[in-house]
Amino acid sequence: MNNMTISSNTNVTALLKEYALPSPLGFGRELAPIMYRADYMDGAWKQGQLIPFGEVGINPAATCVQFGQQCFEGMKAYKVAQSSPALFRPEMNFARLRKSAARLCMPAPLSGIFVDAVKQLTRTLEPFIPSESGQSLYLRPTLLGLDPTFAVKGSERYCFLLIASPSDAYYTAPIKVMVEREHSRAAKGGTGSEKVGGNYAGSLQATERSIAAGFDQPIWLDAATSKNIEELSGMNFMAVINGALHTPALSGTILSGVTRSSLFEIARSIGMDVVERTMPIDELLTDIRTGACTELFACGTAAIISPISEIGDTETRQALPDVDNVARQLKTILLDIQEGRGEDTFDWMADTRDTDTLIKRLNGAPA
Ligand SMILES: Cc1ncc(COP(=O)(O)O)c(C=O)c1O
Repeated sequence: MNNMTISSNTNVTALLKEYALPSPLGFGRELAPIMYRADYMDGAWKQGQLIPFGEVGINPAATCVQFGQQCFEGMKAYKVAQSSPALFRPEMNFARLRKSAARLCMPAPLSGIFVDAVKQLTRTLEPFIPSESGQSLYLRPTLLGLDPTFAVKGSERYCFLLIASPSDAYYTAPIKVMVEREHSRAAKGGTGSEKVGGNYAGSLQATERSIAAGFDQPIWLDAATSKNIEELSGMNFMAVINGALHTPALSGTILSGVTRSSLFEIARSIGMDVVERTMPIDELLTDIRTGACTELFACGTAAIISPISEIGDTETRQALPDVDNVARQLKTILLDIQEGRGEDTFDWMADTRDTDTLIKRLNGAPA
């Protein structure tokens, strides 16, 4: 075991000596040459370590391959105005990973392992965290079921990987969204409120159809009635109606976004009302026609906010009068906090140097 650690550390050091960031970086394209891996076996998590990034030997009959027994997270480490890499509300990603893991009968990594992974990887990659506004080290915690079996059951061995991508800002031009009326993303009792791979695979055909129809992405309706807006495939949805921020309530089929809940607090802090409710698509289209709804946008960790310029389907399309107005205001406040320029009034940022505080935050204790 000692020898393994030494040779792995040596590889990691050697790899980083030769590493240079490409230009342009893009978002989520460049994969850092090292990653973190911890394994679960014999009923317990073993201490993990940094290893060279590369393909991990996975049995083709493993439960993650055959049955989609896998889940993941998306978060960012920022080093713009900060003196050391900082995380944004990591306890929320950890809690969501635990929820996703539990739904698929997987053991979630312990808080100590999650913190060790984030801390070791961000500290070791610190010289390669790009530091212009909008840039970050995008982090992808990933949990995989490893046992080969064709019986539909969980594994006894799992691995937790933390993969990193030094990234540029994820700038999106305003997007056009197509109301998806054929497929559903998630049904009550399914896995829509967890971050599991199958949700995304199931969305791909609708994305292709929306692009063929001249849009960028589908917007999903609820599976039970096909009447109410849920979210986009990888972002939550928000509308500005009569000056207030409206968004679909968490129904058990929508992912509870870290950005979504952060934007609520920011909106309230600047005097906007926030309304979480059932949002019928027909009512929204009427509100756009009458001018009550002025702006739509999607939100998530990667892009923070993607303004929506048009909504429609194969028959009709409606353009929004405002694009990136309220959205830009909210995004500026959020980014100022994340990048260390603005005061962290909500106590959202966590210094990756401070292990004790990180563990307390992940365990839900006051930091
Ligand atoms: C389906 C879905 N909804 C919403 C979000 C936004 O969540 P967050 O703000 O935590 O990134 C994501 C991204 O993780 C997502 O995949």
